[in-house]
Amino acid sequence: MLPLLLILFSSANAALFYDSYHGVPISPDEVKRHDKTNTTFWCVNEVEPCHPLEGRRVDGSCNNLRYPSRGASHTPFTRVLPPVYDKDFEPKKSASGNELPLARYLRTRLISVGRIPSQVFTQLAIHYFVFMSADVVSLHDTINYIAWRPYCCAEKGKIPHDDPVHRFSGVNCLNMTRPESFQSIGCIPKGTTPDRIVSSTPLLDLSTVYGNFLRNLNEKGRLFEKGLLKYEVENGRIWPPSVKTLASVCFLNQRPQETRCHNMPEDGGNTLAGINLMAVWFWRYHNFIATELLKINPCWDDERLFATARDINIAIALQIYYYELMPMFLGYENLLKDRVIIPTGGFRDVYNENVLPQLSLEYPFVLRWVHTVQEGALKMYDKDGYYLKQYPIVNLTLRTGFFAVDDNIDYITQGSFRQGSANIDYIADPDITEQGLGPHQKVSDLMTNDLAKNRYFGFQPYVKYREACFGTTINKFEDLKGFIDPERVEILKELYETVEDIDLLAGIWVERPIKGGFVPPTFYCLVIDQLRRNVISDRHWYERPNRPNAFTAHQLSEARKITIGRFVCNIGDTVTKIQPNAFLKAGIQNSFTSCNHIPDMNFGAWKDLTCKPTQWQ
Ligand SMILES: *[C@@H]1O[C@H](CO)[C@@H](O)[C@H](O)[C@H]1NC(C)=O
Ligand SMILES: *[C@@H]1O[C@H](CO)[C@@H](O)[C@H](O)[C@H]1NC(C)=O
Ligand SMILES: *[C@@H]1O[C@H](CO)[C@@H](O)[C@H](O)[C@H]1NC(C)=O
Repeated sequence: MLPLLLILFSSANAALFYDSYHGVPISPDEVKRHDKTNTTFWCVNEVEPCHPLEGRRVDGSCNNLRYPSRGASHTPFTRVLPPVYDKDFEPKKSASGNELPLARYLRTRLISVGRIPSQVFTQLAIHYFVFMSADVVSLHDTINYIAWRPYCCAEKGKIPHDDPVHRFSGVNCLNMTRPESFQSIGCIPKGTTPDRIVSSTPLLDLSTVYGNFLRNLNEKGRLFEKGLLKYEVENGRIWPPSVKTLASVCFLNQRPQETRCHNMPEDGGNTLAGINLMAVWFWRYHNFIATELLKINPCWDDERLFATARDINIAIALQIYYYELMPMFLGYENLLKDRVIIPTGGFRDVYNENVLPQLSLEYPFVLRWVHTVQEGALKMYDKDGYYLKQYPIVNLTLRTGFFAVDDNIDYITQGSFRQGSANIDYIADPDITEQGLGPHQKVSDLMTNDLAKNRYFGFQPYVKYREACFGTTINKFEDLKGFIDPERVEILKELYETVEDIDLLAGIWVERPIKGGFVPPTFYCLVIDQLRRNVISDRHWYERPNRPNAFTAHQLSEARKITIGRFVCNIGDTVTKIQPNAFLKAGIQNSFTSCNHIPDMNFGAWKDLTCKPTQWQ
């Protein structure tokens, strides 16, 4: 009797348990059942009661007040188009019933291999793309891939005998894993359509810095003083704290020299080199903001400083993503027209509580197109712009220690805005196509894996997405010629039996760039669909005047002054000058400028007049 009474009495304040897939409350008995099968972590969301006026939660819960678990980690994706599978949810076959061409074969035929540097974009732009993807997809993907159960020589990973590279190497298959789903984990019955499960929240909320769980943030992140995140100073540089044990995810640290491995609320900040770099920067930026806030508001306590600094940090990450990075690739005018961004600089409020805070499965998937623009060699420069050395970026995966030795982070930082990305040209870097996981795997073709994932996710054919995006029906290969060059249409025709067999990603790979931008049109369509959904479904979206602890108009306009160049000036090692548009290569219109002349925000907008100056107390 007693336990039941306790539950009754405390129910007003007790956490509620939700089924992570269905988003509905479940009974303690059901939770116990999950405990028994050890599926509670994945299949149950524990949500403290929501308070309509509290700020953004680290775990994403209570974003939607009617469906409190939505927005939290391991909740389902939505889809732009429903999936299609073969029987038993195996990847679908061609329309005729034959197997589709091997993923590796398609990759080698559709994407050439080489190294042509972009004259437009910098490496920094690619780092930012990758970092923003890591915010919303499982930060553990890479680690899982390496540490879990890759299998080899399955039919799907087969390499054709006449492969341009592997006819010489003796390797005849690639390791691939099928992404985990609510079904594979055991949250819902096997035999239902697989739905991808990831551990990050679907909201753009700097999960790479603050994590996805409050407990992790409190244990690993917060210093609980002056609103700061924990930090270490080593050789004059500020870092997130490092784990002290050898058992860490930084499998590739070259010991004994390389020891640093970040003990952050999530492991994402130890994965790919670009994510690592950006995670260190946003970590530092949090402390930079908190310190500025304390200067102007000496009466604020740790809690208030921390919450405000986090809120500003997230807003700035989004501001740079929406108003700087995306316009450069997708086209400023296009984004204005499609209402992804607004021109005025003021507030906007398009929140709709009927749209759940979810991610489309297509969005993070099509972002993989960016693999074609990833340079393999990470170039390093000194602070005066002299080229020093280069290192294969794929050899830096799970190798945080590299950044902290030989002043590497200084040189990588300088290189990030001096080196071009790879050109947008249907050509991929050989490291991406042969050594994507560096020494972690003998051979790995990231883009072949991307195409294999396309099939595991059961995405509808490319032509269906064209139809959904642009309203045009495509019945024959010739119909592709309006947006794919004839020579590539010819290759597609050789590879696929019918036009409706073309895989979504294969079509995106070969599309001509969109008018007014640099990206394939179907990529554009599926990316802006999510960019808009974020603004509509995230109750804590930074441009809203009506969210809890909303910015004032003055604060918002200050936050909008921050550019990636300013950001790197503030927290990048040895950076004293930079081109104002640091996602673009420096040039006549965009020449190196002293950081002193790059506009910054004025924290005076956050001045709290109830804080009395100390000398008057
Ligand atoms: C239970 O699940 C957790 C999270 O998935 C996992 O880390 C742990 O190893 C599992 N324990 C057992 C006994 O299987
Ligand atoms: C990068 O890793 C590959 C193995 O994948 C290795 O052969 C190569 O020597 C490494 N490069 C450097 C510079 O360490
Ligand atoms: C596949 O994975 C296994 C186990 O990790 C590894 O031994 C093998 O070399 C990998 N194969 C390739 C082609 O990388």
